[in-house]
Amino acid sequence: MNLAIEMTGIEKRFPRVVANAGVNLTVAEGEIHAIVGENGAGKSTLMKILYGLYAPDAGTVKVFGKEMTRFSPAASIAAGIGMVHQHFMLVPTLTVAENVVLGMEPRLGPWFDAVQAEREVAELSTRLGLAVDPRARVETLPVGIQQRVEILKVLARGARILVLDEPTAVLTPAETEELIATLGKMKAEGRTIVLITHKLKEVKAASDRLTVLRRGATAGTAVTADVTEEKIAEMMVGRAVAMRVEKKTSRPGDPVLSVKGLQAAGVGPVTFDVRAGEIVGVAGVEGNGQSELLECLSGLRAARAGGASLGGVDLSRSGPAAWFRAGLGVIPEDRQKRGLVGEFTVAENLVLGRHREARFVRRGFVAAGEREAEAAALVRRHDVRPAETGVEAGSLSGGNQQKAIVARELARKPRLLVAAHPTRGVDIGAIEAIHKAIVSERDRGAAVLLVSSELSEILALADRVLVMFRGQVAGELKAADATEKKIGVLMAGGKA
Ligand SMILES: Nc1ncnc2c1ncn2[C@@H]1O[C@H](COP(=O)(O)OP(=O)(O)OP(=O)(O)O)[C@@H](O)[C@H]1O
Ligand SMILES: [Mg+2]
Repeated sequence: MNLAIEMTGIEKRFPRVVANAGVNLTVAEGEIHAIVGENGAGKSTLMKILYGLYAPDAGTVKVFGKEMTRFSPAASIAAGIGMVHQHFMLVPTLTVAENVVLGMEPRLGPWFDAVQAEREVAELSTRLGLAVDPRARVETLPVGIQQRVEILKVLARGARILVLDEPTAVLTPAETEELIATLGKMKAEGRTIVLITHKLKEVKAASDRLTVLRRGATAGTAVTADVTEEKIAEMMVGRAVAMRVEKKTSRPGDPVLSVKGLQAAGVGPVTFDVRAGEIVGVAGVEGNGQSELLECLSGLRAARAGGASLGGVDLSRSGPAAWFRAGLGVIPEDRQKRGLVGEFTVAENLVLGRHREARFVRRGFVAAGEREAEAAALVRRHDVRPAETGVEAGSLSGGNQQKAIVARELARKPRLLVAAHPTRGVDIGAIEAIHKAIVSERDRGAAVLLVSSELSEILALADRVLVMFRGQVAGELKAADATEKKIGVLMAGGKA
């Protein structure tokens, strides 16, 4: 067995956190190797070392048998490594083709040869079954498509080892299947793949072997076929994890959110209510108006026709501040852009939006003690790791950023909670906790609108399911009647 990657005794410390505390990882050439572990276990850090973004404090890294002596992306790329990051690193104002060939642009004389770039990208995307429009500007694309661009970009650089950090977190089930098929094609071409994912179904479907990280160290490795999902979960968390949500039948009250004939760019007309004490799930293939609807329902996109009222007041032409005053809580789709202020501390982020409440202000200044106490309590309740409120929010691992957002939004005791992919990037133990928290918001009497690309999440939580297709509500199902199959038919534009 030839080894593609051999990392031994890897240590990496950050000012207040030990991210890797003696990790060993061996990946054979031509295998698909999954890395799993709780949020903050050190997975992304380990892969950033492999990709040369960080130098390890101790330990050795060998790629195809050769020890890395310098740690820089250039050295890693030269060694054959390509990485698709957890948070996209595309230039939003450039086109797909421009992003893919960035730094290695085809030239026509002294000029950038856009036609050639577009042709190359189209060829590569067809070969690997990753459809994208090479001429589209990246900022106009939904996250699911941006993901494909990231993958194409790495492949265009001829990577022999492809590292994907939670590539499926932003994909729909169908896109995930396609991606897994693509990984299979790349493996057949002789490439080695390292796949970080929290979805154990994918680990089972895609990987040959797996390594479990726990609190910065290797907790075990296994041949994937030899272990069940339950067993992997237990290796990660150290205890058995309930994979099902316990909830009582809902007792919906009066409508809290009323959407009537709402139309805006990219969505509508849509009409629906969300009542107090119920969870309405919104399913649909990404790009069918869900994002636009969410923007309308938080004051980021103005309605052209129709209305949306929260607690009886039409806010469809009001900005975010009015929505928040009326009692909206939002777990946004894009946590990097809208969820947290990366340069602020965790404590500052946790009271963001509530910082003017009387208890957080003393004689016109921030009541630091109050804020600290509240932040510490939230961090503890939602198990944000590290349990340090003074670190920059941007330094938290992806899943812990998500937990921090959930903590803040639920702490506001919203009348209406709009949750977009609330467990995206979150480990299975934390999914269990977030699901429980959303159900208890419902039971407290909040109206919950849940948008998720995980059908299993919708089926587990929703009391009613709306399916969106081409900007409209294509059908509605009661929880009792909803099945993956029925939802799937509506998602594809069929009739219930
Ligand atoms: N640049 C940084 N500065 C400070 N701390 C960091 C930095 N990067 C990571 N950390 C910390 O190191 C630990 C490991 O983070 P890492 O991102 O590797 O976790 P992960 O296993 O990828 O988690 P997730 O599943 O949530 O993505 C975390 O506690 C995180 O807060
Ligand atoms: Mg990570």
